[in-house]
Amino acid sequence: MQLDIRLSAARGAPGALALPVYSSGEREFDDELTAFLADAEHQGGPGEISSLPRPLRKPHKVFLVGVGDGGPAGWRAFGAAVTRSASRETSVTVELPADLDGDRLRALVEGLKLASYRFREVPLAADKAPKLRKVHLVGPTDEAAVTAGLVTADVTTLARDWVNKNSADKSPAWLAGRIQKAAAKVPGVGVRIREPRELADEGFGGILAVGGGSSRGPRLVELTYTPKNPTKHVVLVGKGITFDTGGISIKPAAAMLLMRKDMGGAAAVVGALLGAAQLKLPVKVTVLAPLAENAVSGGAFRPGDVVRHYGGATSEILNTDAEGRVVLADALAYAVRKLRPDVLVDLATLTGAQNVALGKRTAALYADSDDLAEALTVAGAEAGERMWRLPLPGDYVEELVSDVADWVNSTEVGGGSVMAALYLREFTGALRPRWAHLDMSSVAWSDGIDKDLSKGATGWGVRTLLRWLEAEAV
Ligand code: BES
Ligand code: MN
Ligand code: ZN
Repeated sequence: MQLDIRLSAARGAPGALALPVYSSGEREFDDELTAFLADAEHQGGPGEISSLPRPLRKPHKVFLVGVGDGGPAGWRAFGAAVTRSASRETSVTVELPADLDGDRLRALVEGLKLASYRFREVPLAADKAPKLRKVHLVGPTDEAAVTAGLVTADVTTLARDWVNKNSADKSPAWLAGRIQKAAAKVPGVGVRIREPRELADEGFGGILAVGGGSSRGPRLVELTYTPKNPTKHVVLVGKGITFDTGGISIKPAAAMLLMRKDMGGAAAVVGALLGAAQLKLPVKVTVLAPLAENAVSGGAFRPGDVVRHYGGATSEILNTDAEGRVVLADALAYAVRKLRPDVLVDLATLTGAQNVALGKRTAALYADSDDLAEALTVAGAEAGERMWRLPLPGDYVEELVSDVADWVNSTEVGGGSVMAALYLREFTGALRPRWAHLDMSSVAWSDGIDKDLSKGATGWGVRTLLRWLEAEAV
C-alpha cells in the first residue's frame, strides 16, 4: 500500500479522524466533539481501538486509539492501529499533541507505515485491498522526525520484501542484483559483488563450501557508504542463506518450511546501511553479506569435510546444517584483516536454540563489551526490537576444538546459540572487544499480525541498527 504521510497545519474538515487516548484516562479532544466522545468506553491500552460512526455528520467516523503511557512504543502501536482500523477510509486525519517529541513522532510514523505492509506474490482483489492512501498529522512540526520515520520504514520494507520472497526466485545472484539495484539509487553507496571465481581466488572457502550444493552459486556482497568526514567506521555482517535445506545433514520438512527467511541478517544490514546513507549519517558503514543456498547435491559439502576459511583458519564440518557460522567466519575474518573497522556487528538467523531460549520476540545479544551491549540494547528498546544478552563463557570453547582441524562447526553440548556465538568470536581477532553478535532466528518472522508487524518477514534489525548508527555518529 502506498501511504502518503504528511504534517498538516490545521485539521480542516476530515472525513475520518483519529484521536489518542492515554491509559491514564487523559484525552485530547476538540471542544465540539467532547460531548459526543465523553461517554465512549476506552482504556487507552496501546493500540486499543474504538470506531465511532457519526452518520450524516463530519467527521463521519472518529477512531479513539490508545497510546498507553504515551511513550514511543505506545505511539508506534497507535500508528499501527490507525492504519489497520482505517483501512477502508481513503484518508484519515490524526490529531496529535503539538509538543509530541521527535522520538514519539518517528515511532508513530514507523507504526503507520509498517502496519500497511503486506507481501503478496499476486495482487489482492481490488475489493479486498486496503483503501487508505493519506494520513494527515495535525499538530507537530518536526519534519526531520517524520523523514527519519519514513526512511526507516522504507528500508525495513525493502528487507521484508527480500525475506518474504520465495527461494525459487531468490538465488544468491538475484539477491545480489537486487541489493546492487537498491544501492545504485542512494548517493554515496558503492557495491562490489564477488562471484565464485573471485571467492576461490581470495580464499573464501567457507562461503564456497556452503554454496557448493546449489546449481546457483554463492556471492559475497560488499556495500560501502562513505560520508564526507566520517566519525568512525562500522562493519555490519549479515547471514544470507537464500534457502537452508540443512544440506546433507538435511532438515525435517517442518523445520525446512520457512527457511527462505535464512537471509534475514543480510537483508537487515543492507537495509540499515541504505537508511544510514539516506539520512546522511556521518558514520562510514561497510556491509558484508555472504549469500549462498544450502542445498543437497553431489556438489554439496559433506559431514567430515574440512574447509579453509578466509585468512587460513579451518573448520571440521560435523553438521552441514550449521552452515551460517561457516559463511560468517569468512566474512568476519575478512572484515578484521582487510577492513579494520572501529566496530564489528553481525546479524544472523543462526540457531533454533535462540528461539528455545528467548521465544518469539526477543533476539539473543552477545558481546564482550558491556558498553557495546548496552548501546545496542538501548537502540533496540527505542526501535521496538527487544534483545537479551547471553553469556560467552570462555571455558566452553574447548568443546569447539577439532581433532583434525582448528574448529568444529557444531556441538551437541546444549546452549546451541551460545556455542555458535563462541565459534564466531574465534574469527574476530583484534576486534574481539569491539564485536557484537545478534542471533535473530525467531524474531525474523512473525506468525501473525502484531502491531506494526504483519504476517511474515519482520525486517528485524533494520530499526535497531539505524538508531544505533545514529547514536554512534555523535
Ligand atoms: N538457519 C538455521 C537456524 C534457524 C532455525 C533459523 C529456525 C530460524 C529458525 C541454522 O542454519 C541451523 O540450521 N542451525 C542448526 C545448528 C545445529 C545444526 C548445530 C540448528 O539450530 O538446529
Ligand atoms: Mn542450517
Ligand atoms: Zn541456516
